[in-house]
Amino acid sequence: MNNSGTTAEELIELASQARQFSYSPYSMFRVGAAVECSDGRVFTGCNVENASYGLTMCAERVALGKAISEGAREFTRIAVIADAKAPVPPCGACRQVISELCGAQVEVVMSDLNGKIETHTISQLLPEAFDKSFL
Ligand code: THU
Repeated sequence: MNNSGTTAEELIELASQARQFSYSPYSMFRVGAAVECSDGRVFTGCNVENASYGLTMCAERVALGKAISEGAREFTRIAVIADAKAPVPPCGACRQVISELCGAQVEVVMSDLNGKIETHTISQLLPEAFDKSFL
């Protein structure tokens, strides 16, 4: 649990519920995500694929897009869950977006379906990130 009162397991459970809505007819790889705001709100998302494969939206970016579009700006954790041999890490594009929107210290909570959880900060997953300070 962090100071928001939500446990990592609870955040993963919300991501798991969103995963049920995954639209993934091409990869069949169903992903759910849940992002926790500093005010306690949680926004969830699933991956949304497209016949034009490159238009696919990852679960993490769907959840963050929902959060930003509802006015949320401060985030404490983002959880990701999928059916894989080990807890699933965010792809490179999502790491860049998480880093920008959530800040270097946000915790990324990764889980498989067996309840195995790993947590890293986004700066551990994306060291030396490109950000607005370079512009
Ligand atoms: N995917 C996510 O939604 N999040 C991740 O962290 C990894 C990959 C999705 C994209 C695509 O729909 C499917 O998983 C297979 O790559």
